[in-house]
Amino acid sequence: MEVLRALWNGPQSFVTIHIAVIGGDGIGPEVTEQAVRVLSAAEGRGLVDLAFQEFPHGAEHYLSTGETLSDATFATLRDDFDAILFGAVGDPRVPNGEHARDLLLGLRFRLDLFINRRPLTLRAPDLSPLKSAGTAAVDFVIYRENTEGLYTGAGRIENEGTEDERAISEGIATRRGVERIVRAAFEKAVESGQRVTLADKANAVPHMFGLWRRIFIEVAAEYPQVESEMRYVDALAMEMVRVPERFGIIVTSNLLGDILSDLGAELVGGPGLAPSANLNPGVHGLYEPVHGSAPDIVGLGRANPFAAVLSASLLLQDNGAPEASAALEAAVNAALREGVRTPDIGGTATTDEVGAWLAAHVAAGAG
Ligand code: NAD
Ligand code: IPM
Ligand code: MN
Repeated sequence: MEVLRALWNGPQSFVTIHIAVIGGDGIGPEVTEQAVRVLSAAEGRGLVDLAFQEFPHGAEHYLSTGETLSDATFATLRDDFDAILFGAVGDPRVPNGEHARDLLLGLRFRLDLFINRRPLTLRAPDLSPLKSAGTAAVDFVIYRENTEGLYTGAGRIENEGTEDERAISEGIATRRGVERIVRAAFEKAVESGQRVTLADKANAVPHMFGLWRRIFIEVAAEYPQVESEMRYVDALAMEMVRVPERFGIIVTSNLLGDILSDLGAELVGGPGLAPSANLNPGVHGLYEPVHGSAPDIVGLGRANPFAAVLSASLLLQDNGAPEASAALEAAVNAALREGVRTPDIGGTATTDEVGAWLAAHVAAGAG
């Protein structure tokens, strides 16, 4: 490929990746803007062809139009785009977060993005809060089930407002739903050679997590070459802090994966360092930082854009642009090395300055 390109010495031509950009609320648009800027730098260098379209969806759009995510917009996002680059949703003006659920959970559910892949890599030893910092090679990925569990909204309130009020939220695990995420984790392990760990709570929640354990054992038997183990999530949380280097791929349910991924983010430098891919392989993908809209720092230029840029790198990786993906990741690693950092990770640079530096690094083709 490299040789052919050198011989031909002409502009590269790629299949265009059509990206819908939804900045959302709070710092979502701030970090997404930088991700688009760095993606555009990769395109400018001839590493990839991209077409962007921005969508205004978020709290402001909801409050002014009443639309969270209409069927027509959903159909456009589903049919006209290869991927969605998402910022964050959540706004104090919508206290019950209904627009956020419709938008983010709505897209995850309606596009059937059953894998929520959340890689956690310690990119600079000083970012670790652990006393073993510098020795522990934190580099694992959480495969979070993304379409069922406690997130379906199933449930009810009985006897509302009375002494006998009961709120019931149903945790749903289906054989099909659990099997496809567990299988995805094992397939990833075949490729990466990592151990697969199931995080569950089968000792206290036997129906749902009993099914997870049975399916995990069945699928593991099909992959004798992959090392696997089952852990209760509480003990696993301790191990994540004590011996993070022992984990490779952690597969788990929707809610447990949500919590573990924030714990994991903190092990690698905090919310500004944790990207994610919501994926239905070969069908669609939504790429977003693990963090939220951070209303406490909105508009201050303090939002760390690395997680958004690393999410864009995952988008490129999944859409046939590995060189461009690597260029984005290399730029983030270089910025960390050079101390080009926002205040959350000990720097003084603004969101915009970090984005400009990353874009220049990608444009220059530096390693
Ligand atoms: P949060 O992740 O928004 O913020 C937690 C803390 O981390 C805050 O102190 C914030 O300033 C900091 N932080 C987060 N991202 C940062 C970044 N890129 N750079 C620097 N600091 C950063 O979590 P929260 O406060 O619990 O939630 C705020 C809102 O975001 C809520 O409405 C919540 O529902 C929503 N939320 C959305 C998503 C999403 O869209 N994927 C994820 C989590 C939370
Ligand atoms: C995340 C977020 C979401 C989740 C919220 C905003 C519904 O915390 O993406 O981690 O719980 O999945
Ligand atoms: Mn979360």
